[in-house]
Amino acid sequence: MGVSVLCVILMALFEPSMTGSSVRNVEYKLDSWMGSLYPHLKHKKLNEIAIPGTHNSGSYPISIGSRTTGDIIDLSHLSDFEESIPAIVDLLSMVGPRWSKSQELSIFDQLKMGIRYLDLRVYCDEETDEYYLEHSFIGSNLTDELLHIAQFVEEHTKEVVILDMMSVQNCSENKVVSLLERFGKVFGDKLAHLPTATKRKKKERKKNKKSHSLPTYSQLVKKRTTVFVALRKEFISKRFDWLWNSDKFTISPFANTESKEKLRIFIADKMSESRSPKSLFVSQIILTPTTQNVFASLFGSGAKSLQEMAVDLNKDFIDWVEDFSQLNPNIFITDFPDRGLVKKIINMNL
Ligand SMILES: *[C@@H]1O[C@H](CO)[C@@H](O)[C@H](O)[C@H]1NC(C)=O
Ligand SMILES: *[C@@H]1O[C@H](CO)[C@@H](O)[C@H](O)[C@H]1NC(C)=O
Repeated sequence: MGVSVLCVILMALFEPSMTGSSVRNVEYKLDSWMGSLYPHLKHKKLNEIAIPGTHNSGSYPISIGSRTTGDIIDLSHLSDFEESIPAIVDLLSMVGPRWSKSQELSIFDQLKMGIRYLDLRVYCDEETDEYYLEHSFIGSNLTDELLHIAQFVEEHTKEVVILDMMSVQNCSENKVVSLLERFGKVFGDKLAHLPTATKRKKKERKKNKKSHSLPTYSQLVKKRTTVFVALRKEFISKRFDWLWNSDKFTISPFANTESKEKLRIFIADKMSESRSPKSLFVSQIILTPTTQNVFASLFGSGAKSLQEMAVDLNKDFIDWVEDFSQLNPNIFITDFPDRGLVKKIINMNL
């Protein structure tokens, strides 16, 4: 009898190492991973869940010949652009698209692959009177994308989708308001409201500071409010009580480096700092190419393209995940993620 008790204890001791790297055995499909992980996520706030996201999510249609968003000088995502000579600007307009396209998959396919945070850069085009997503060049048709996103959340009621409008370019105030009205119309009562927008007595609010912080996953699913929309502070209008202030709602430190090692240290440092309980935390797994590198790739020196750089970085990122998962992981945005990378981020929740 003593021996069998010992056996049980030994089995218990060795069990974790036997299950090894397969984490906990939770089955999920990428298009519905949040719902499948419900027991793991239900008590967690939105900023306590590891969430895969994309950088410049609407840039996938950009190609040579894409229209620029007016000002080609605004290739400011190149780390040292300001130092480079103006004469190269024309050339950049030719190579630019190769360096502005950050995604291969459409937004709908990104969502199906498990992406739940979209980085949207809005551009108001006066020529066609349309809203586009941009990244120095015109990307996808935003009105179209809203319908695709609405279809996804309609078909996947337990998946939370965060739409973060990082910038709004060339838009008058009226244009912004009618864009927001469109969001309201398309998503309706699926929009997640601000916790402070509900009418609550001030005293009560003071007493219970938690009411200011983000809702938990189960609260969102039960209320069926699974769409978050955030926009920069200067465009916030009181008319839309579901509109989150992006400046407060998302903290998204930018490393601005071409070095993988510097990026890894930067992200780990930023993740370790104390964070606001009200904010999402976005780690940008992004390298910023130098202008020199862009041109080197143009002249066939063997330097990497943006996509090659991203694929290479994403491989390294998979090795960093172990460390990052100890640092309260939240949102990770990448260029050209694949399914393996997305799964690795989702598995941080297990
Ligand atoms: C953008 O998408 C909307 C909705 O699908 C469509 O009505 C409109 O014609 C599109 N615009 C362009 C320029 O393709
Ligand atoms: C948008 O860009 C066009 C063309 O560059 C310009 O004429 C127009 O004034 C801009 N509109 C706003 C609202 O910034």
